[in-house]
Amino acid sequence: MKILVIGSGGREHAIVWKLAQSRVVDKIYCVPGNAGIAQIAECLEVESRDFSSLLDFVKYEWIDLTVVGPEDPLAKGIVDIFQKEGRKIIGPTKAAAQLESSKVFAKEFMKRHKIPTAEYKVFTSYTHAEDYIRLKGTPIVVKADGLAAGKGVFVCKSYEEALDALKLIMKDKIFGPSGDRVIIEEYLEGIEASYLVFTDGKNILPMVTSKDHKRLLDNDEGPNTGGMGTYSPNPIITPELESNIMETIIKPTIKGLKQEGIVYQGILYAGLMIVDNKPYVLEFNCRFGDPETQVILPRLETDLVDVFMGIANGKLNRIDIKWRADASLCVILASQGYPGKYKKGFPIEGLEFLKNLKDVTIFHAGTKFDDKGKIVTNGGRVLGVTALGKDLNEARQKAYAAIEFIKFEGMHYRKDIGLKV
Ligand code: AMP
Ligand code: GLY
Repeated sequence: MKILVIGSGGREHAIVWKLAQSRVVDKIYCVPGNAGIAQIAECLEVESRDFSSLLDFVKYEWIDLTVVGPEDPLAKGIVDIFQKEGRKIIGPTKAAAQLESSKVFAKEFMKRHKIPTAEYKVFTSYTHAEDYIRLKGTPIVVKADGLAAGKGVFVCKSYEEALDALKLIMKDKIFGPSGDRVIIEEYLEGIEASYLVFTDGKNILPMVTSKDHKRLLDNDEGPNTGGMGTYSPNPIITPELESNIMETIIKPTIKGLKQEGIVYQGILYAGLMIVDNKPYVLEFNCRFGDPETQVILPRLETDLVDVFMGIANGKLNRIDIKWRADASLCVILASQGYPGKYKKGFPIEGLEFLKNLKDVTIFHAGTKFDDKGKIVTNGGRVLGVTALGKDLNEARQKAYAAIEFIKFEGMHYRKDIGLKV
């Protein structure tokens, strides 16, 4: 079987790594990939935003299945285009991906279907939004409607901060048209958790629980990032809470979409805030999380191709999914300056010492080979060091021990992943 994976992050490296272990996969291609992915798949120069070239490639090479990593191609309708041509592809359609691509759509959908989420109001006028913030007081959360590479949410402690956020989104338009509408949302105080499921639109297979660390610095300080580290399982999600999440959030979402004429197939990711043991949706993502995937997939025992084929064929109920009991933990090594501006092209030392370890895997994100064949930094999040252990503590020790071997100029990482649950 031949598979094409779209994307270039740690998430896509984890997907390709898991697919490479499948008993039925002969060849994996990745567009555009990175230096880690290039060691186990063939990376292609095809412009990943050019869906018709991708489709030509899939037809010409007889690709059996395409897997989409990031949200952008999903929001632009790659699944609709591939499915129209009868091609198997993993991910929701453009209509279904609105759950992530429009926060206004997601909030209104949740309201219609009584899915627990923070109170909110939508604004197209700066002055009305400003008046509302004054009325509500702080802390308060300001969100751009559209996609903003994980940077469109501002949790504001003061009135000044909230106005600054509003100005950046609505006046300076730092996210372009994604900021035509803003959501002003009640601040929820609680514990965050990520909950991901596979679904074929009818059947739902939950993944193991996980926790992301969005803030840049230790003790959850500094700006929000795409994610600085993860672990799995997340002990906050007890079996009772998990069944509450399924019954009040995941099932009503899949069912509610169906009632509205949208069949959701692929991965559904709910970013949750747990307040007094009750789950509230902060956001939906229509794809695997990054870096959640780097801790979830190493725990998957079942062949990932079986799960993907179950989704594509609407037969997920036939899959008996199995997970390892071990815990896993991932620490992101980032470039100095991330999530703001950073330099690229610094050589990465030490990776050769960490090859072929049983319990430690280095997932590449922003890396590439330079002209001399040396692996250099090429992005904000550079590597994800993932370890498996009998419990979180052991996984944590192994991951941090591995990091000692790795060096690149400006390397920054959190020291407290997994310390505080
Ligand atoms: P989102 O992209 O919507 O998940 O938001 C990014 C981060 O902002 C979340 O992971 C939370 O840490 C924080 N956040 C978003 N919405 C809220 C909220 N209503 N209350 C408190 N924190 C929030
Ligand atoms: N780790 C957060 C995300 O994938 O959106």
